[in-house]
Amino acid sequence: MSVIENCQIIELPRIFDARGNLTFVEDQHLPFKMKRVFWIYDVPGGEVRGGHAYRTSEEFVICLSGSMEMLVNDGNKRVMYTLNRSYYGLYIPHCIWRQMINFSTNSVVLVLSSTEYNHDDYIYNFDEFLSLREDMTRWHT
Ligand code: TYD
Repeated sequence: MSVIENCQIIELPRIFDARGNLTFVEDQHLPFKMKRVFWIYDVPGGEVRGGHAYRTSEEFVICLSGSMEMLVNDGNKRVMYTLNRSYYGLYIPHCIWRQMINFSTNSVVLVLSSTEYNHDDYIYNFDEFLSLREDMTRWHT
């Protein structure tokens, strides 16, 4: 089962150019095959996004512009990542609780997901998340 150590910063290629730099992402850079892309923008100061986990979805989160902080939690440990560059992102496996905080003005966050949108994949209740993880741990040991 995924744990906090499975979250990882992945650096993407950078093509430096006097006309402006370029970065790209392909399936080969990610531990999953992407099925959906969405982005978060116009976040009012002080707002918190996320506050859930996914049963199956894996994500790769890049802050394309500005900055924000991603808090990830596997039920045992919490780690906070600052995302503030467009050439790297954070990989988050399934079953990890996440919260996005401290968005800077005009920040734009791009998310690549391993699944299409499915409301039933969400776990919005933290206690439910913890008991699901306990069940999964029992199942796997
Ligand atoms: P949600 O994932 O809860 O946002 P966040 O985690 O950033 O706080 O999604 C917010 C709303 O948008 C929710 O009603 C579902 C909808 N939504 C889609 O319809 N498709 C999508 O791909 C995503 C990510 C969300």
